Amino acid sequence: MSEATKNLKLSFLGAGSMNGAILRGIVASGHDPKLITATLRSDKRAAELRELGINVLVSDQDAEANAKAVAQTDIVFLGVKPVGITDLCDEISSALSPDKVVVSVAAAITLESMQAHLPANQPVIRSMPNTPLMVGAGVVGLSPARSVSEEQTRLVTELLSGSGDVHVIDEDQQNALSAISGSGPAYAFYLAEAMANAGVAMGLDEKLAIDLARATVAGAGKMLSDPQAVPGELRKAVTSPKGTTEQAIKTFDEQGIPKIIAAGTQAAAARAAQLSEELG
Ligand SMILES: NC(=O)c1ccc[n+]([C@@H]2O[C@H](COP(=O)([O-])OP(=O)(O)OC[C@H]3O[C@@H](n4cnc5c(N)ncnc54)[C@H](OP(=O)(O)O)[C@@H]3O)[C@@H](O)[C@H]2O)c1
Repeated sequence: MSEATKNLKLSFLGAGSMNGAILRGIVASGHDPKLITATLRSDKRAAELRELGINVLVSDQDAEANAKAVAQTDIVFLGVKPVGITDLCDEISSALSPDKVVVSVAAAITLESMQAHLPANQPVIRSMPNTPLMVGAGVVGLSPARSVSEEQTRLVTELLSGSGDVHVIDEDQQNALSAISGSGPAYAFYLAEAMANAGVAMGLDEKLAIDLARATVAGAGKMLSDPQAVPGELRKAVTSPKGTTEQAIKTFDEQGIPKIIAAGTQAAAARAAQLSEELG
């Protein structure tokens, strides 16, 4: 990591599941926690965040908490629910300056709708992260506005690269990326859940079935984490002709699992587009 990236002061406005995952990943990758400020609405989770060594401000106790956090930082991660993003932009607008980069992690909130609530030409990036960032195995899609310089995109990319893969994509690809990698960890957990239930249905003890499914999906995930890995090739390598796995895959194909997965991801992308309409 370059000196410039190591010295970045960061703020996380809203530090729930997603922003909390990003900040944990960044702390685990070696960023000095003293350079990080997080804000929360209530003090419920403040103690657990302070244990990481970061500064925490609570907006219910201090109406200026978000603006104060922004004033002292270089990169500002917006991590409240999508419905609250434009109000948060209004709230911090007067504390921003062109040298600060705003990164939103909110699903469906477009650059255009944020820009309407930020100072003119404010550097802003729409992103779609996922929660495995907290264990250094995440994926993030970044779509910078025209107001973001190449150097600013490079700094944000380098900062997040310590906790996962970073892809810079056009904003019109965000909903599709969200449907694959943003929501995707839930699909992998769903697969593990279904495998465990199937094991129980075949007579396995519930704990054993969950242990088998969990460790198998995690182990397969580790094999897939090699950047050279090709999912179809890994699958074929463990599918012997006329064997047991082949019977399972044949049944999945006959029952239309690939089509079902395509339909589910299309529904997720369509929901993101609908939310953009509703909230834009
Ligand atoms: N969860 C995911 O897998 C995922 C994936 C990709 C993108 N996202 C995006 O991440 C964003 C947050 O989702 P989430 O699941 O992380 O929600 P969450 O767990 O409910 O977190 C929201 C956080 O915002 C805080 N907050 C709310 N209003 C605030 C305010 N005015 N000032 C300061 N903090 C405030 C909350 O504080 P309290 O804890 O005190 O209430 C909470 O920490 C959403 O926009 C979502 O689209 C989520």
